[in-house]
Amino acid sequence: MSISYLPGKEPHPKEHRVILKNIDRVGWDTSIKTYLNDGGYKQLEKALSMEPKDIIAEVKKSGLRGRGGAGFPTGVKWTFIPPNNTKPVYLICNCDESEPGTFKDRFIVHQDPHQLIEGMIIACYAVGAHRAYIYMREEFPIAAQIVTKALDEARKHCFLGKNILKSGYDLDIYLHRGAGAYICGEETALINSIEGLRPYPRIKPPFFPAAIGLYGCPTIVNNVESLCQVKHIIEMGGEEYAKVGAQRSPGTRIIGVSGDVKHPGFFEIVSGSITYGELLYDLCKGPKDGRSFKAVIPGGSSAKVMRCDQPVKLNGREISFFDIPMDLDSIAQCGSMAGSGGVIVMDDSRSMPWILNNINKFYAHESCGQCTPCREGCPWMVKLTDRILAGKASPEDVDLLAQVANQIEGKTVCAFGEATAWPTQAFVAKFKEEFLALTQPINAVLPHNPEAKEQVKYLVRD
Ligand SMILES: Cc1cc2nc3c(=O)[nH]c(=O)nc-3n(C[C@H](O)[C@H](O)[C@H](O)COP(=O)(O)O)c2cc1C
Ligand code: SF4
Repeated sequence: MSISYLPGKEPHPKEHRVILKNIDRVGWDTSIKTYLNDGGYKQLEKALSMEPKDIIAEVKKSGLRGRGGAGFPTGVKWTFIPPNNTKPVYLICNCDESEPGTFKDRFIVHQDPHQLIEGMIIACYAVGAHRAYIYMREEFPIAAQIVTKALDEARKHCFLGKNILKSGYDLDIYLHRGAGAYICGEETALINSIEGLRPYPRIKPPFFPAAIGLYGCPTIVNNVESLCQVKHIIEMGGEEYAKVGAQRSPGTRIIGVSGDVKHPGFFEIVSGSITYGELLYDLCKGPKDGRSFKAVIPGGSSAKVMRCDQPVKLNGREISFFDIPMDLDSIAQCGSMAGSGGVIVMDDSRSMPWILNNINKFYAHESCGQCTPCREGCPWMVKLTDRILAGKASPEDVDLLAQVANQIEGKTVCAFGEATAWPTQAFVAKFKEEFLALTQPINAVLPHNPEAKEQVKYLVRD
């Protein structure tokens, strides 16, 4: 069946829409009627006729890796529930979407809530959960209304509640609103938040949520996009799904591009099927007029920034940044990560110290304060970048900035430590000349670009 999209919203020929198939589609709305007319909840019927362990086996075979940031294999995570468990099992959909530069989960919920609900029910059935939560940040009020309505519809159609589709399986899904804190996207902070506690991340290992999670019970936490993929795995079968795209991170991926491109937005691509160059020049229509690409953060603000003019090594070969294939392992080999799929693009008008200062302010504001290196280190990095931008820093301060980041990485309770350390480490290592230039007299500050000078002029010494 051919699908038409709203004018100007058509997918690019290099896109392959599976999860976003219905986004911006002509005649599409969020009602269950429309979803059912499109074959919705058929995969749930199929899944309920299967043994839960066989569903887990299919998801394992598919090679699906989580789309929330860490890229952990979803099927493997599901097997971590202790085999002799007698406690209730919970499933939580992580719809916190807090990583700057990431904007895919909200779109899915806004335009295709039943796809998520169907995926969640199948996942719950597979792991033996009878109660599940959608954890959604406070800043998504419209998404909350849409999900509430969709859950009601699903209950009325017997896709939720007791004896779902006469299978004997019971499940309900509840919407839980967060208060809008970045750290609540971290799965253990999120669990504490649902329990009504302060959202301090929990120490792991040894205990991961799949063994000891919500209310001390086994809990699976998955991202919205990961859970949406589940219904497509049931439809295709794990083996077929595994053949799509990059071998070690198969399937499609939603990429959200923001920043200095002519055509920002979200794009669903087959993992590894295009390069960063194709993304930026074809799908995003290149840099703004008269500009050139300078740097890219490939996976949300916590991913390490890449220089567009610096070659990287992939499989022993030196290649341009633009030739890196867009899959989890390629970008990891080149020194960064695909993370949450949020690609932030900077052109030659941008001052890198200014951008780092901005990122550092975000992390300093969002640190939960539980561990000292993060609580003290984040504001310290802000102070140092403030000082650098004000033209009041010495070259030693630039080294100190990198050292503070090094003292945070690997020394904290949760991965927020890395999320805040990596930007500083990479910005300083890759654009050191810009930081050092700011420690010199004003004429040496930003010789490459007058607009960048505009951004920092009120901070630069006279
Ligand atoms: C500081 C921090 C923030 C995070 N924020 C999010 C988020 O907003 N959404 C998300 O899905 N995962 C987020 N994660 C990752 C989650 O902890 C968890 O790994 C993820 O939800 C698992 O889902 P997946 O396996 O389907 O990717 C965050 C992790 C950290 C350390
Ligand atoms: S690393 Fe930061 S956000 Fe994570 S627990 Fe420690 S203080 Fe909190």
